[in-house]
Amino acid sequence: MRDRQHCLLLHAYPLALDPPRGQPPAARARRPEEMKLLRAMVPALSAALRAPARLVGRGRALHATAARGAGSGGLFEDATALVGNTPVVKISDKLAPPGVEVYAKCEYFNPLASVKDRLAVAIIEDAEKRGELKPGMTVVEATSGNTGIAVAMVCAQRGYDCVICMAEPFSVERRRLMRMLGAKVIVTPKAGKGTGMVRKAEELCAKNGWFLCHQFENEANWKFHEATTGPEIIADFKASGKKLTHWVTGYGTGGTFHGAGKALKASIPDLKIVLAEPEAAGLLASGVATERNADGSPKASHPAFAAHPIQGWTPDFIPKVLEDAPMAELQDELFPIPGDAAVNTAKALAAKEGLLTGISGGGTMYAALETAKKAPKGSVILAMLPDTGERYLSTPLFADIPADMNDEELSIAKSTPSFQLIPGQEPVLAA
Ligand SMILES: Cc1ncc(COP(=O)(O)O)c(C=O)c1O
Repeated sequence: MRDRQHCLLLHAYPLALDPPRGQPPAARARRPEEMKLLRAMVPALSAALRAPARLVGRGRALHATAARGAGSGGLFEDATALVGNTPVVKISDKLAPPGVEVYAKCEYFNPLASVKDRLAVAIIEDAEKRGELKPGMTVVEATSGNTGIAVAMVCAQRGYDCVICMAEPFSVERRRLMRMLGAKVIVTPKAGKGTGMVRKAEELCAKNGWFLCHQFENEANWKFHEATTGPEIIADFKASGKKLTHWVTGYGTGGTFHGAGKALKASIPDLKIVLAEPEAAGLLASGVATERNADGSPKASHPAFAAHPIQGWTPDFIPKVLEDAPMAELQDELFPIPGDAAVNTAKALAAKEGLLTGISGGGTMYAALETAKKAPKGSVILAMLPDTGERYLSTPLFADIPADMNDEELSIAKSTPSFQLIPGQEPVLAA
């Protein structure tokens, strides 16, 4: 056994070395396969060289503790090489009902802390390969935030100028993050909704000859999830000897659902896929299709759309990337999520599990936990956590999280004599 593991290490290690200088972007396409091998290698290294700790399943699944100190198996070429291979973590019985297992895939482990890092790498590398995006060009996208941050990251690394169009209501920290990454942010009026920011981006590209990512229409989006997100899930559950029975996701563009969903159903045909959307904006639930322009973009706002608090989910139209998915094959259940359930579950994930995700992660986990309550014993359920909760400091997620000390904290502060900062009193330094 030990020999087999060392053998695996010897075979995998050369893949971890930096690619040769001047390697064209196309060569980076091999990375997911390389990373799969590397990831397989880390627990093997750990098991071979040290006593295992806190292992789950067949002893290879929840391997992070045992793998600590083993490194990543090599050096990463640049920021874009850090995208993908996000970890899956178990939800404890503090939230999960008995008799079933619930897991979360933490997309906030991507370098800019959201699932959209995958989309940005996918679209930009695809456009480079097709010759549509050339050095010195400007990359543009219309986005509620995470996509802009991801596109800005890839542009910063590759040396493209970046212009992001973003509607007014989305959180201000997102705008500042994009500007920190070197992008220009064009804020569009709230009344224009999601379609307004898309129109603005199209107008700017038509006028200046800039490259538009078209995240809602570009098939490189879902294809990347088919090649990475889905296979990662399959590999990680396989490594633990567990059979995934349910997979739960929401949709923004539909890239995750379409691409990862295809890969998952191909590998696990009896898998149940639960697709969540905001209760307040039941676009799919309405059965009303979105009318499109020739390029697949929406002609108008969808009649079933209403403002909802689940940022990143369900724009005011049904995206082409979602509509192009074989819905009848992929979607087993459509799950409406109340906004307050999404917020409360995100808070519970943070306070009870130490998993800090956004409102949509809360919504997805709510659907997973509700599914878990009625699923047969022995079910294994996975929810996607698309981004980090840190991106929501100015949103309803943090609305009742105070910055000042509450009564309990004040009484702790007063319980010893020194360094007291009590409102309305002189600060106390030494006792
Ligand atoms: C914040 C956020 N970003 C992205 C996504 C998924 O995006 P897409 O459907 O574009 O793959 C979701 C969906 O759950 C989301 O909540």
